[in-house]
Amino acid sequence: MTAKVCMDRRALVLGAAASTLLASCGGGGGGSSSGGGGGSTSSSSSSSSSSSSSSSSSSSSLPDPATAPALKTHFASKFKIGMAVDPGQAANAVTNAVLLKHASSITAESVMKANPIGVSAGVYNYTSADQLITLAQTNGIEVRGHALLWHQTSPAWFFEGDTTAPGYKATVRARLETYITDVVTHFKGKVYAWDVVNEATSDDASGNYRNSQWYQIFGPDYIEIAFRAARAADPTVQLFINDYGTEDTAKLGRFMAIVDTMLARGVPIDGIGHQLHINSTWPPVANVKAAFVAAETRSLINHVTELDVSLYTTDSGSCYSSPPTGCQAAFVAGTVAYSDALRAQALQYRAMFNLFQEHASVKSVTMWGVADNSTWLSTFPTARLNHPLLFDTAGNPKSAFWAVVDVGFTP
Ligand code: XIL
Repeated sequence: MTAKVCMDRRALVLGAAASTLLASCGGGGGGSSSGGGGGSTSSSSSSSSSSSSSSSSSSSSLPDPATAPALKTHFASKFKIGMAVDPGQAANAVTNAVLLKHASSITAESVMKANPIGVSAGVYNYTSADQLITLAQTNGIEVRGHALLWHQTSPAWFFEGDTTAPGYKATVRARLETYITDVVTHFKGKVYAWDVVNEATSDDASGNYRNSQWYQIFGPDYIEIAFRAARAADPTVQLFINDYGTEDTAKLGRFMAIVDTMLARGVPIDGIGHQLHINSTWPPVANVKAAFVAAETRSLINHVTELDVSLYTTDSGSCYSSPPTGCQAAFVAGTVAYSDALRAQALQYRAMFNLFQEHASVKSVTMWGVADNSTWLSTFPTARLNHPLLFDTAGNPKSAFWAVVDVGFTP
């Protein structure tokens, strides 16, 4: 049950030393392994293995948690505050309390992906996703849909058949259209936005598009097919193209080239999803600003979709290989180095939230998790203590939380 996200260059954002984009997702397997990668992604509560350390905040001088404002209220005039969660974690006492107090939006960390929803052609398992919808509706929280098409969670049945047969492409296209039509229809009126296509951009300069199985079959057309099917099924839900690394100048260029191609074709894209899996010292604010401006100049909405701020800033690119090597040594909670890392993290969170507030185009900011007791970065890119969220392992506000809600707070 590992966070087996294929070893792509999230290194780009999570490790300063990995500022160059590595080989494409799936490593040696490239795009061809990515469909199978779907099978390797974890199910529901999985990856979020907790760190074994006890609850820890950076400093004993943090304000009383009881005085913490609800994030959803604090930022209500600017954007929704989202948190990624699956039903198992949502029921966890620490997670549940933080989620209900602070979130106005929920993203399913796993349970709304095609794997697990798409069991086989025309057969769907909505059980866990519907649990999350019920939790959200019961508590007046909106739901952000994630993700209709992602190479890592595209079940193998999409691609079954004789790839050389004349009707193969039409068959796969029909499966994709049926899947998106049915799923978007199922959640119609229950989600306010969908990540329609996730991570379609190449990580290297070999081309704009990730060489996924989808791309190998359709070229760029699969993106258009996916968006048009989603729009036909729900005329009003907001449709997003989502990716990581938009804070990298070169990758942003490739990403926006894809967006421009789609917009020129009349593809109904409403907004850009910026994952923002970043770290305490990288990227600079200017890079993220450039990514927001890129959307604004095209009259698109911005959503921050998967924000977390890793404590690790010096992982080498090979930390994202399998097996990982060259990863920064694990922090130990309670040490000076750990406290320093939390301070840097708080400053990075503050800088980012300040930027978000400066851009009226930013309508939703989702953290990829709720509290440090459960984060995919506990196992990705390697198993180690990582505390990337605004709340500590006990659900108490960290320095990073106070840094974003209180300009007078010194981390
Ligand atoms: C991750 C989840 O956090 C893990 O639990 C799961 O094992 C793999 O997927 N980009 C995305 C998210 O778009 O869907 C990924 O979520 C993290 C990277």
